[in-house]
Amino acid sequence: MEELVERAKAVLNNAYAPYSKFKVAAAVRTKSGRVYTGVNVENASYGLSMCAERVAVFKAVSEGDRDIEVVAVYTDTEEPTPPCGACRQVIAEFNPDALIVMASRKKTVVVRLSELLPHAFTRKNLG
Ligand code: THU
Repeated sequence: MEELVERAKAVLNNAYAPYSKFKVAAAVRTKSGRVYTGVNVENASYGLSMCAERVAVFKAVSEGDRDIEVVAVYTDTEEPTPPCGACRQVIAEFNPDALIVMASRKKTVVVRLSELLPHAFTRKNLG
């Protein structure tokens, strides 16, 4: 887990956040053991900005590596940053029970996605 946080931390400065100035880094580990990192990428058309977690998840999925086990989020803040609602939903698509590691310079909090997004809407609901 610590190693995954280190992988996220290593790309934090690649975050493109000129508008919010809030840099976020993420790292996803899949069942295969591979790690995919991501950072937030903002846009002058603010609503098009993309979170670090989704960038990392989409990198994994686009490599055909969908069995997401752990998602680490790192911010250089006092308090850890929880994934936003949209990211929770995107992670739930691949593993509603993924381990979520939220780390800041001061502390690390580990929870299951099912705690952050109980009663998630998933493909099961589509019948
Ligand atoms: N952001 C993330 O990348 N992940 C989160 O978990 C929270 C928010 C980004 C989106 C935006 O670029 C900036 O942080 C401020 O909301």
